[in-house]
Amino acid sequence: MDRAEKQALAWSVGVLVLFMAAIVAAISGWGITVPDCITDVEPFEEGQLIQHDNLHYELQIVAHMWYFNPAQIELPVGATLDIYLTSADVVHGLHIDNTDINMMAIPGQISYLRVKFDEPGTYHFLCHEYCGIAHHMMAGSIVVKSPEEFQPEDMGTDEALNGSAGDIEGEMGDES
Ligand code: CUA
Repeated sequence: MDRAEKQALAWSVGVLVLFMAAIVAAISGWGITVPDCITDVEPFEEGQLIQHDNLHYELQIVAHMWYFNPAQIELPVGATLDIYLTSADVVHGLHIDNTDINMMAIPGQISYLRVKFDEPGTYHFLCHEYCGIAHHMMAGSIVVKSPEEFQPEDMGTDEALNGSAGDIEGEMGDES
């Protein structure tokens, strides 16, 4: 092996180590993770927002051609949202503006990510995987309100509030 080869090898290993370190730093330093993929729970068919406590909510969201169910939810500022995403038909995506939420909606599987909303405002979300003729119509929003503005009855039915049905965290057991 000549000198140039050794140098090229050293550089390659160096870059590899650098990338590994960047991944470790992203996970441990900034808490950046890729979505979990849950395959051992039957995907839900209806979307719903479940309140676990004052500032902890669970969103079960279903991507369809060509809409999200639900397409709009409201949360109090400071809320932590556990997002469970699946698809009823083809592969879709979910990206939420001004967050690091970027997920895939895959039929037969559930993707999971957690996000915390520290600033009030409207966070638009959209489908980022081309899924057919009306792909560009697939959008929705999460409205994050200050405590004064937020009225729990904004969220709809009592059923959605008490969260008795379809609690994935419960079904997942230790995994959560
Ligand atoms: Cu759904 Cu694009």
